Amino acid sequence: MSRTLYDKVSIGTLELRNRFVRSATWEGMCDEHGRPTSRLADLYRELAEGGVGLIITGYTVVHPKGRQMSGAIGACSDRQIPVLSSLPTAVHGAGGKIMAQLFHAGAQTSTRTIGEPPLGPSSVESPFYSGAPRAMSHQEIGEVVQAFGQAARRAREAGFDGVQLHGAHGYLINQFLSPLANRRTDRYGGSLQNRFRFLEEVYLEIREQVGPGFPVTIKLSGSDNLEGGLGIEDAVYHAGRLDEMGIDAIEVSAGTAGSGEGVPVRKGINAPGREAYNAPYARRIREAVDVPVILVGGLRSLPVIQGLLEDGTADLFSLSRPLIREPDLVNIWARDPAHRSTCTSCNLCFRPGMREGGIYCVPERKRRQKEEGER
Ligand SMILES: Cc1cc2nc3c(=O)[nH]c(=O)nc-3n(C[C@H](O)[C@H](O)[C@H](O)COP(=O)(O)O)c2cc1C
Repeated sequence: MSRTLYDKVSIGTLELRNRFVRSATWEGMCDEHGRPTSRLADLYRELAEGGVGLIITGYTVVHPKGRQMSGAIGACSDRQIPVLSSLPTAVHGAGGKIMAQLFHAGAQTSTRTIGEPPLGPSSVESPFYSGAPRAMSHQEIGEVVQAFGQAARRAREAGFDGVQLHGAHGYLINQFLSPLANRRTDRYGGSLQNRFRFLEEVYLEIREQVGPGFPVTIKLSGSDNLEGGLGIEDAVYHAGRLDEMGIDAIEVSAGTAGSGEGVPVRKGINAPGREAYNAPYARRIREAVDVPVILVGGLRSLPVIQGLLEDGTADLFSLSRPLIREPDLVNIWARDPAHRSTCTSCNLCFRPGMREGGIYCVPERKRRQKEEGER
């Protein structure tokens, strides 16, 4: 029997109502302590009502030195647990599921943001971010490993259905994996195995903290899309090791903010041929692992996504910008499979997050305002 996008599907012990995922999207809707506002809970409720099977939160900071953009969710202390629980409550009430994306920026932040020079595996400046980070000591590595584990436990206690590690896009985990950012000569650097060690320790600490049945997933880069950076052969190795260790799903992305044409959030997805830009990486990773693979990046139309399900590229399909524009896109597609996402991939959605305390689709809001003005 052929698989359809509206089949129920499992990630570890978690059953989802369909194969659509809201990819992690920083919303800028938390206060200065990383506490979600009611706007964020309302947004997640709206997304769940719009039909998406699984929502992955915007990046959730696990350690104060891992902060980056303002308004991000924080899970650095037990005090956050009660307020974090407003998010799963909102989603569950609308029949959806939600995972927290656990994040540390590493070198991709600034002294202004964290009050001291950023930390990284080595003192190597990230493309796109000015200033070289300070190389982490073994004690600092241990502290961050612990912080990931504690944040995962807090997410479980707050009622989330699982967690996703942010292992992509040039942030701390990806920095350890990447031969460009990681120039260490100790047991955390050098060989492929050594560069994987930080992620291995993070994963094992999380498992220790949350137990065997709680879904733990990762967003992984299939490539840094940078000369001399992590490539698909490295990514296949990372995915294989994670699969052996018991990861429950792998979302495949690629690129860093400094990757030029190969950034994670690409512009100009204006034709079916430009969609699904990470599909070649997902295909390679899916061949190498048994766990479900989630594809993200430029998915805009149902026939394209259905084709990627049928040809075995991925098991689930993840969307960010299209759901900022149309939070009910999954329900729209169920009614009208020929509908193409109206997202223009202009990336203006980042701007209100920084300036107005919360993302929204700028062209869509302008269109609505114009329509109201004409009435
Ligand atoms: C406003 C905005 C915020 C984002 N925040 C995150 C984030 O917190 N974590 C993450 O892994 N990716 C983040 N992304 C990247 C998306 O999850 C996704 O990988 C990328 O946008 C490509 O998918 P799309 O074409 O469906 O937008 C963000 C993207 C946008 C547009």
